[in-house]
Amino acid sequence: MILNRNDQCWCNSGKKYKKCHIEFDEKLAAYKAKGHEVPSIDMIKNSEQIEGIRESAKINNAVLDLVQEKIKVGMNTEEINKLVHDLTVNSGAIPAPLNYGGFPKSVCVSINDVVCHGIPSEDTILMDGDIVNVDVSTIYNGYYSDASRMFMIGNVSEEDSKLVRVAKECLDKGLEAVKPWGFLGDVGAAIQEHAEANGFSVVRAFGGHGVGIEFHEDPFVAHVGKRGEGMLLVPGMVFTIEPMLNQGDYEVFVDEDDEWTVFTEDGGYSAQWEYTVLVTEDGAEIIAY
Ligand code: MF3
Ligand code: CO
Repeated sequence: MILNRNDQCWCNSGKKYKKCHIEFDEKLAAYKAKGHEVPSIDMIKNSEQIEGIRESAKINNAVLDLVQEKIKVGMNTEEINKLVHDLTVNSGAIPAPLNYGGFPKSVCVSINDVVCHGIPSEDTILMDGDIVNVDVSTIYNGYYSDASRMFMIGNVSEEDSKLVRVAKECLDKGLEAVKPWGFLGDVGAAIQEHAEANGFSVVRAFGGHGVGIEFHEDPFVAHVGKRGEGMLLVPGMVFTIEPMLNQGDYEVFVDEDDEWTVFTEDGGYSAQWEYTVLVTEDGAEIIAY
């Protein structure tokens, strides 16, 4: 897109290009010329889109709060699915997982050695000592939000609660590394260092993602990496950070029968927390948590 100085800016602000994103675009072009990967225009949300994603996230956050209030030992994971589905729909929203690529339920519930994409079922009962990830994603007014939390059921072993705690610390360290004119590699490096310093591995096969207009957009957000590498971060980007940490090796496999449930290869437990994050002028803001 070639814009003249007096054209309307591409961001829908209604301002002239010369009064809006011209310097921003020049700065991006300079990074690109130096060999950095830079975001495309559709990865940069305008204020109307950000407002839409915020509204979606309000519902997503309320759904996770409800799960947090109700989750308990003896519950089956279909009950969690129903809580999520009903509050989402009653809020005028759509659960994004339902029918996404054929996913059969409204939420992912992943227990112990399940890394992600666990399918709720009446036959899956939460047991004392389980560590559980509940991953909620919402479509509201066409806008997507996505977040997950871990829950510890009853008495969780020291070893397993350390995994849950360190996974949350990794998410927060990843968030702290989000800076405008920084790089995605800064985020991956912060997460990987903290995980490995604590004796855990970081799953490579899945990562965070752009989110907002679609469920999964570019960029892919690796939870490993090197500082100063990977895509340039700029204000207006919205993406998830959702590190999956394993007690053993980072290798995973997908269940052959249901084609969704992701397990650790070695049977060690896995934990994950997820935020939807907005890159701001001076750092980052958590949109969904
Ligand atoms: N919520 C997951 C994520 O964080 C994606 C789940 S896809 C589904 O990206 F189909 F399993 F729901
Ligand atoms: Co996600």
